[in-house]
Amino acid sequence: MTHATTPAPEGSAITVCEVGPRDGFQNIKTFIPTARKIDIVNAMFAAGVRHIQITSFVSPRAVPQLADAAEVIAGVDRPADAMLAALIPNLKGAERAAAAGVDAVHTVVSVSETHNLKNVNRSVDQSLSEFDAVAALMHREGIAVEGGMATAFGCPFEGIVPPENVARIAKYYHELGAASVSLGDTTGMATPATVKAAIQAIRAEVPDMEITLHFHNTRGVGLACVMTGLSEGVTHYDASIGGLGGCPFAAGATGNICTEDLVYLLQESGYETGIDLEGITAAARLTQETLGQTLPGQILKAGPRLRRYDPQLTVTAEG
Ligand code: COA
Ligand code: ZN
Repeated sequence: MTHATTPAPEGSAITVCEVGPRDGFQNIKTFIPTARKIDIVNAMFAAGVRHIQITSFVSPRAVPQLADAAEVIAGVDRPADAMLAALIPNLKGAERAAAAGVDAVHTVVSVSETHNLKNVNRSVDQSLSEFDAVAALMHREGIAVEGGMATAFGCPFEGIVPPENVARIAKYYHELGAASVSLGDTTGMATPATVKAAIQAIRAEVPDMEITLHFHNTRGVGLACVMTGLSEGVTHYDASIGGLGGCPFAAGATGNICTEDLVYLLQESGYETGIDLEGITAAARLTQETLGQTLPGQILKAGPRLRRYDPQLTVTAEG
């Protein structure tokens, strides 16, 4: 059954969730000092970011980079209206996240068995069954649950991921009382057609479930997939500063769609994000300097569309 969709109307508010401090930093081997992480998050807040995946409460042996999760949360200048979310794989992560004072937890399970085994060392159903206790705890603590799904548009080990499997997990999350589901394109396998199929499969099963789309730009079509999401009426998107990102436990994973590039696209298309393009580009520049590496973001390199150059500084072609 196909469900009628209303595209996100021009002028409407689009939520951009900054995931660089989680998805971006988790894939960087050299430890980034906690104070530098805090500076970068503060620059994001200064740019108007209000939704952020700030860290993960995972095993510090699995992801040593995020071993300072609680210190980062305690150290940032947290705006009163900011929603701080953290990724968690299990109940222990949920307990640590609650103690650190998050506003939301992003539970992680992969839609494909092989990636779930690689990423969290258990089957999909084992992960889901532990989320019962996670949801109960979060409910008691008044913390929102965002039901995350990795490999939602394809798996680097298994290939095609059927939209029905995505819808099954969305239904499960709905029964747990999750506020939304997030479809993660772990290794950039999404295309406009697969995005549409996954959204429609979820809507057929749980029509009132809020959907967040989380794309990686591994094959260069991340923003095209956002356009498909908008035309399907999806108003929540994850993106990462400078286009950092990638799962260390997924072969071939590279960066997320870039926050500045997404903000630029949305702004030029008449949507409101509440994020200042210049401010978020400054945060990306700070991230680039901190990491000492060139990031993939395009706006970072080119500036906005109406950037003007001094003709005096450009050579004239002489034939
Ligand atoms: N935070 C901190 N420590 C944790 C933890 C958590 N959320 N969950 C488990 N641990 C600790 C246990 O206490 C135990 O410690 P000990 O050996 O000192 O007693 C150890 O980790 C092993 O616990 P176990 O439950 O057997 O975990 P595991 O070895 O099966 O690993 C995960 C499972 C989920 C903890 C691990 O695979 C993980 O952290 N994965 C996250 C991967 C990730 O972040 N991917 C990128 C995001 S998509
Ligand atoms: Zn990701």
